[in-house]
Amino acid sequence: FMEGTEQAPPDPILGVSDAFKASTSPDKLNLGVGAYRTEELQPYVLEVVKKAEAIMMEKAENKEYLPIDGLPAFKKCTAELLLGADSSIIAENKIATLQSLSGTGSLRIGAAYINAWLPGKTVYLSNPTWGNHKNIFADAGVEWKMYRYFDPETVGLDFAGMMEDIKGAPDGSIIVLHGCAHNPTGVDPTKEQWEEIASLCQEKGHLPFFDVAYQGFASGSLEEDAFAPRMFAEKGLEFLCSQSYSKNLGLYGERVGAINAVVNDAAVATRVASQMKRQARAMYSNPPVHGARIVSEVVGDEDMFNEWKAEMEMMSGRIKSVRGKLYDYLCEKMPEKDWSFVTRQIGMFSFTGLTPAQVENMTNKWEVYMTKDGRISLAGLSAAKAEYLADAIVDSIKN
Ligand code: LMR
Repeated sequence: FMEGTEQAPPDPILGVSDAFKASTSPDKLNLGVGAYRTEELQPYVLEVVKKAEAIMMEKAENKEYLPIDGLPAFKKCTAELLLGADSSIIAENKIATLQSLSGTGSLRIGAAYINAWLPGKTVYLSNPTWGNHKNIFADAGVEWKMYRYFDPETVGLDFAGMMEDIKGAPDGSIIVLHGCAHNPTGVDPTKEQWEEIASLCQEKGHLPFFDVAYQGFASGSLEEDAFAPRMFAEKGLEFLCSQSYSKNLGLYGERVGAINAVVNDAAVATRVASQMKRQARAMYSNPPVHGARIVSEVVGDEDMFNEWKAEMEMMSGRIKSVRGKLYDYLCEKMPEKDWSFVTRQIGMFSFTGLTPAQVENMTNKWEVYMTKDGRISLAGLSAAKAEYLADAIVDSIKN
């Protein structure tokens, strides 16, 4: 039966971690996957998460199935984190929230919903985008195209191109937008540009689909990083929005996140929620309970919430600081090149502009593991290794 099965290629992002693990070099550096590391380059479990888990141990709750759409306390606090506790959308039940398997699982439920209830609609993705977006929509049988986003000339946003493409898409298309800290470029629209994007989506009757995977990691502030979806909601736009707690709470392996549908009518929200539950039931039945309890303990409690904010500021601060160090070393070692994009870009990543051949040199010669598109995760860099990385980049460009 299975003899004809072809070998699949390694995953462009997670495959980099496998290659890193296989290397025995003491110099090896994993800048592939976007996962936070300490200055010692070790994985980090947030103190506030450990505290929440201690409380959970005391409570000794059972391991019964969660409802298909997840833990009620989680659903409440995740919607509030997205739209604000005082949101009228939440008060009026104009939001359907389903706890799902982190960013990917939540996007996949959204994609399944689009396939079933918005058939024939095309999804527009930014060029470039997180590699898995294409997989997820294709896997759900949803057609995708790309809109212009990144301008390699300015190493910034091609706002005019983006607007032109969103305008050129057929009315009622679905536009995927990175809520903050665009992956892989680290280039976000300004607030004024977000306003224009919202107005254009409104004018065209498009359905935005926000992917919010880095709330708190762009600016260090959870509120600030929710600017775009909150503003879209205030303007009365309907939209879909996936959320992930992998990065901001460091819950990577717990697979905790949500898919939300913000709509203009509470009855519609109820129906959309019922369909998303059907999709989830068929795919994985119901979501895992442990991570959802952690989120509910932390996000739902004022003191823990404040502790979380402080830890997130610490994490995003460390990334900003290694960004600064890398920039200084690059300027010192190759002053003829303009490196200002390194400190302009935000979030976990820097989009270096390295070509696939240069990336190969980074890995083969310098043991720096990174994705082929030239993205490096600064969350995986330490201050002590910043000079080494700068040497590797300069050598890869010059040779
Ligand atoms: C990344 O882009 O590195 C992360 O979102 C991890 C992943 O699942 O790809």
